[in-house]
Amino acid sequence: MSVTNCRVLIKFGGNSLNGPGDLDRFADNLLELIEKNYQPILVHGGGPEISKEMEDRGMIVKKVAGLRITDQEVLSVAEEVLKRINAATVAMLRAKGINAIGASAADAGVICKRKAPVIMIEDGIDVNVDLGHVGDVVGASSKWIEDMLNAESVPVIYPIGADPLGNKYNVNADTMAAFLAQAGGADTMILLTDVPGILRGGEGSSDVVHEVTFQGIDELINQGVITGGMIPKVEACRDAIRHHVATVHMLNGKDPNSIVRKLIGMEKIGTTVTQG
Ligand SMILES: Nc1ncnc2c1ncn2[C@@H]1O[C@H](COP(=O)(O)OP(=O)(O)OP(=O)(O)O)[C@@H](O)[C@H]1O
Ligand SMILES: [Mg+2]
Repeated sequence: MSVTNCRVLIKFGGNSLNGPGDLDRFADNLLELIEKNYQPILVHGGGPEISKEMEDRGMIVKKVAGLRITDQEVLSVAEEVLKRINAATVAMLRAKGINAIGASAADAGVICKRKAPVIMIEDGIDVNVDLGHVGDVVGASSKWIEDMLNAESVPVIYPIGADPLGNKYNVNADTMAAFLAQAGGADTMILLTDVPGILRGGEGSSDVVHEVTFQGIDELINQGVITGGMIPKVEACRDAIRHHVATVHMLNGKDPNSIVRKLIGMEKIGTTVTQG
């Protein structure tokens, strides 16, 4: 099957694509997509690597609802680690003949603002938790992405955004991916993660939910099945669909061939989110 300039945003998480040869197979999948006229836009996270770097430096990792509490020091570590992952990914893709161009979300035209405190219930009392330098995306110019795609380049974006004053923010990579999918006019968004999709029995189970609606997501959150990093991920899926990204899949980044298996082979793998 060949398509006419189908834009696909692919986000990979810090724990996916880190097995031997994974990044190489990922690049082969991209080449196959490009051959079939797909235009990939890449976004990556780096959660586990940021946590490891923080622990190595004796810092304490704190997360609320899957989001990292980010003081100035954490922000510097996050930016440093994400830049390192970005440079390594770009170098690897270029070695495979893909014209990859790395950028922060700020450089790619994304505008952020500081995220409002999250309300948590502790001992029956509402508590405001300030997440620090964590950002919400409030807008983006699509010019940079358009220029990249018109030049047949593959953008590789890491989720550090900035406000109009230049203050930087750490943004969850799934949240950023959903925003860039709409700003970049993607028809399809794929979130590659370190699990094969939403697992019905929660973390550690092997029963994949292949299709889920918005309402089904609410039920799985209320049942405590969807927790931690899966929360911003499902919210990002809903956000992308609400903003006209037609197709949204979560796939296993431990099997980088899953991209071609899903988009071209149409295999029943991963989790597909629909409005319902
Ligand atoms: N029901 C569930 N099914 C599958 N995974 C779940 C579920 N509930 C919670 N999770 C957790 O969500 C994790 C995926 O989110 P996580 O934020 O850790 O990774 P990522 O988004 O792929 O990477 P990064 O945050 O680096 O971008 C899984 O590894 C798992 O621990
Ligand atoms: Mg995550």
